Amino acid sequence: MPIEFKNNKFHLYNDKISYAFEIGADKDILGIHFGGRIIADDVNEEKYSAKSFQCVKMLEGAAYRLGVFNSDYPTATTPDFRIPAFEAEVKSGKNCFSFKYKEHKIIKGKPEIVGLPAVYTENENEAETLILTLLDADSGIEIDLHYSVFNDFAAICRHSVIKNTGSDRVIIKNAQSISLDKPAGKYDYIHFPGSWAREKQLRRHPVHEGEQGFESRVGSSGNIENPFMVFCDRNADENIGEAYGLSLIYSGNHKFTIECGEFEKPRIQAGINPFMFSWSLESGEEFSTPEAVMVYSDEGIGGMSRTFHRLYRSRLCRGKFKEAVRPILINNWEATYFDFDMHKLIGIAEKAAAIGIELFVLDDGWFGKRNSDTCSLGDWYANEEKLGGTLKTLAEEINKRGLEFGLWFEPEMISEDSDLYRAHPDWVIGFPYGLELQGRRQHILDFTKKEVRDYIVDTISAVLKSANITYVKWDKNRHVTTPYSNSLPADKQGEFYHRNVLGLYDVMERITSAFPDILFESCSGGGARNDAGMLYYMPQTWISDDTDAVMRQYIQYGASLVYPVSSFGSHVSAVPNHQTGRVTSLSLRGTVAMNGAFGYELDLTKQTEEDLNKMKEHVEFYKAERELVIGGDYYRLLSPYESRYSSWMYVSKDKNEALVYYAVTTVLPNNPIVRLKLRGLDKNKYYTLNGRRYSGKTLMNYGLDMNLEDIQRECFIWKLKAE
Ligand code: DGJ
Repeated sequence: MPIEFKNNKFHLYNDKISYAFEIGADKDILGIHFGGRIIADDVNEEKYSAKSFQCVKMLEGAAYRLGVFNSDYPTATTPDFRIPAFEAEVKSGKNCFSFKYKEHKIIKGKPEIVGLPAVYTENENEAETLILTLLDADSGIEIDLHYSVFNDFAAICRHSVIKNTGSDRVIIKNAQSISLDKPAGKYDYIHFPGSWAREKQLRRHPVHEGEQGFESRVGSSGNIENPFMVFCDRNADENIGEAYGLSLIYSGNHKFTIECGEFEKPRIQAGINPFMFSWSLESGEEFSTPEAVMVYSDEGIGGMSRTFHRLYRSRLCRGKFKEAVRPILINNWEATYFDFDMHKLIGIAEKAAAIGIELFVLDDGWFGKRNSDTCSLGDWYANEEKLGGTLKTLAEEINKRGLEFGLWFEPEMISEDSDLYRAHPDWVIGFPYGLELQGRRQHILDFTKKEVRDYIVDTISAVLKSANITYVKWDKNRHVTTPYSNSLPADKQGEFYHRNVLGLYDVMERITSAFPDILFESCSGGGARNDAGMLYYMPQTWISDDTDAVMRQYIQYGASLVYPVSSFGSHVSAVPNHQTGRVTSLSLRGTVAMNGAFGYELDLTKQTEEDLNKMKEHVEFYKAERELVIGGDYYRLLSPYESRYSSWMYVSKDKNEALVYYAVTTVLPNNPIVRLKLRGLDKNKYYTLNGRRYSGKTLMNYGLDMNLEDIQRECFIWKLKAE
């Protein structure tokens, strides 16, 4: 049984992890441990010793200092002066609470969180869930703390449900998804700041006293900070040491905090950003926080990533594509931008078919009268004059050439110059305020309104039914300003950001479940909404608009710390690169792009025969190996953040096959020799590589001395096969 309750202690465990906490003498929830497997009975928390300025609970025989103890869901206004996970007030003015253990239940499986994306089970024996209820008797506020533990993943899933069982209105000001206290020690944290076209840049810092962390205030998870953090021992690296990964399954404003206070114990929290947030609960109502997933690894940061990859691929992504190989696509965006007609598109498709590409994606500019980014978002009907026919005809022409057909949408957006805006100006976020604020000449539809959501679901569905469409790219190209909805009363505007995200989830759930045979790829100007919440609806993400083969190594490295490589849309584009101006070889571009769901994004009619032949080789190679890329275990060997190279490998489940990738970020003359230590192989097997025989032991413990010829190359991919 992965969840036990004995002697007032809860122990959630599997072979790899333990999560243990106890009910204190005064019915507080006191955290003991999250990490490697322990025997919970062996652990005793520190007991009372009075010091000045510490407010203690004087209980007969069992006084303790809340401010020192680990707490599992600390609330404000108690003697625990560290950062609270929950803050609220009651209409009458009461803002001091005292939450006590009320009851708990342990159930098989993992219940869904209605309206929110979450990790799921396929069979109730895979996991158990503890629902522990805290009660503030005065106000009647109850907090259900949900903890799920799987048999097969070194991960804990947490969220909380706040219930108003009293008679007075409750206003939630802050409700984090997870709070976890760690013992004092030397730790680092890693986060992934960035911006458009340079998302998910890995940055590692020592944890210090005071508050540190990061957040999003842009209305979505954003490209400024990704909703993911690594918390690890100071000496942990890719392969050794203890590492914890904290991922929030949420696409809205998030906040990740580490506070290291007077007793040097870090408190880690993640959840909805309290920035401009409040949520009213009338009597009988409840509110669910998004889910936070915390993974533990004693095999360094690499072990943590592999757990996230397996968990998210198989128990967060849904639908028939979640673990399936993906079609190799050609996208016309960087080939044509808005300047295309049927003839041009078919020309690209024919070249694509000739080199073995499988899917043609028509990007922005096919609808309304859109020939630039100034108009037509919201008018989701084909520009038949521009396309030279209906979407159905175009899809048929593409299909005739042996390619599937995919289409771009930006469903959450509206242009001022559109029929939709002329009919419904009040469907815009902020209306009637802030309309002078535009991003990419567009406004955002107010998805807190059901009529807006219904309209978008109906319109997009009609297009999807109108032609043979097997792929959708779902884009979003601006941040939220003026977080205001004219449908919400004045005292509920603090609910806007979250309600808008819930609205988006509703729309995506309805559309993706109505079209289970369509592969959906999410995008937000590249990676401005590259989060676990989106993966629940769409198993693929366009992780950056930056297709430069050097920058991409940094972006893919950062993203791979948490998100499965199967979810990375990854394209070869033209040189000079449109984002950086850099010229890289086709080999480097191909090698880097074959790290994920592979595709092309350039005008194939303008490529030389030599380049087309090379692309054909890449396409054939990827088709032969994509099962390993999409489903293999992923090992990072060299970091572009620490060297002039990056290297990674995929290993099959049975460890009989592996692919080793190597790529440079900077070419140096007279390079030093690099020895590449491989990972994840079977030490008892022999592998063939480039016609030579190597033992798994040698490859992993000694490594491979790359010869001078290898070193001077910009990139290569090696295939290993066990005998
Ligand atoms: C931003 C996306 O990231 C691009 O790939 C492309 O689809 C454009 N939007 C189209 O407007």
